Amino acid sequence: MMRSFADALPPAPNPAFEPYKVKAVEPIRLTTPEERRDALERSGYNLFRIPADLVAIDLLTDSGVTAMSARQWGALLDGDEAYAGSRSFARFESVVRSITGMPHVIPTHQGRAAERLLFQVMLSPGETVPGNTHFDTTHANIEARGTTAIDLPSPATHDHAAEHPFKGDIDLEALEDLLTGDARVPLVIITVTNNSAGGQPVSMANLEAASALCHAHGVPLFLDGARFAENSWLIREREAEWHGRPPLEIARAMFDLADGCLVSAKKDGLVNIGGFLAVRDDAVAEDVRRLMVLGEGFPTYGGLAGRDLEAMASGLEEVLDPAYLADRINQVRTLGDTLTAAGVPIVRPPGGHAVYIDGRAFLPHLDPLDYPAQALSCALYLHAGVRSVEVGQLMNGRPGPGDVEVPVEHDLLRLAIPRRVYTSRQLGFVADALADLHRARAAIGPLEITDQPAALRHFGATLRPRVNARPERTSAAPSVSS
Ligand code: F0G
Repeated sequence: MMRSFADALPPAPNPAFEPYKVKAVEPIRLTTPEERRDALERSGYNLFRIPADLVAIDLLTDSGVTAMSARQWGALLDGDEAYAGSRSFARFESVVRSITGMPHVIPTHQGRAAERLLFQVMLSPGETVPGNTHFDTTHANIEARGTTAIDLPSPATHDHAAEHPFKGDIDLEALEDLLTGDARVPLVIITVTNNSAGGQPVSMANLEAASALCHAHGVPLFLDGARFAENSWLIREREAEWHGRPPLEIARAMFDLADGCLVSAKKDGLVNIGGFLAVRDDAVAEDVRRLMVLGEGFPTYGGLAGRDLEAMASGLEEVLDPAYLADRINQVRTLGDTLTAAGVPIVRPPGGHAVYIDGRAFLPHLDPLDYPAQALSCALYLHAGVRSVEVGQLMNGRPGPGDVEVPVEHDLLRLAIPRRVYTSRQLGFVADALADLHRARAAIGPLEITDQPAALRHFGATLRPRVNARPERTSAAPSVSS
């Protein structure tokens, strides 16, 4: 008997490759080591001050640097630019409602504009706003109201090497203490994923418990959902009850626990600009709408063009595609695991959007006040043209009494991965470059600050390889976990 066509083939292979093909390309200009040395010196050893043209692989941020899909580019032409009541707003509103279940959807030009509007309406001087870890702009916008921002990260956050699945959680005991104490708490914010604490996810169990606590005390819970889709995927992978469930269902379950959300769409909205605020409370929405006309624009466009609303609507649909999320999370995990295998100390396990390297553990011969993570970021740029960002002593430290700094808790280097932009081979190059530097780590020397602005110093400070003796520290060194 004749065999039927191809009946002895092995099982179909797992399509473990990027679930998209490339339609437009942007050439990468390669630089010489001399050009990079020159750029580094001219920038004052501050990678924010280096022209992007002189960067081969840019992992400074995952924000606003997404590659849009052909469908999103097509949607731009469909944008309805009507000043009020545009069709594009209606589409955007319907997509956000379907994901969040929140009736009031208010577009803003980016995440921090949503923060500013909400806090102007909901916060008063003397109050306290706790969170798992507030992002810098959230922190700054809270404090700008004369309100205190407090971080209550899970104790698991402090051990960089531990393979805890949900290091992004809020510390429930600390939250309960705060809510039962004397502090006046107008709202609680949980950031998913927890960018400032290693990009780590927050579990559904933690969100459920936090929501119950907040509501028992009559306090509204808000989500900072910049990376809500990545958090949903990590819940699906790491929390038994949610295994295999559709990302949209998980995202909706997260938002169902909250009273409102603040979203920078420059991350999981898969766009280059945009954000929104969504709330359940009619009065809060009304106050925000009234206020936003003064700065952000009419409530149906919020500082954006109609075409931006179209691109955001499409991006918010695409980001919940399981094939996209599986690939996205896998790309970050592969980079992290490759670095771990090469002996590079990272925050384990890799989270949703970035790999964080422990600067002090990578360069143990440097003092915390030698800016180890910043020194490593400069060395990585010089060695391979890769730009990363320090989240450590330079970003979070401040000159103390007598201009001597107190070491901050964590000194990390973030490799943020833009969405749909770099291939696995390009990230493999980054891993190889870091493995080279790890072998040659003894050659990486200390930095010192030569000039710094009073606020947000990491954007504008200048540094140089240390020539002066380091000033004596008066306080004890922090506990260095790695
Ligand atoms: N919330 C989180 C968790 C963020 O990571 C950011 C921005 C914002 C709010 C503010 O949103 O930039 O649209 O105004 N994070 C970027 C980063 C800048 O590099 O992590 P935005």
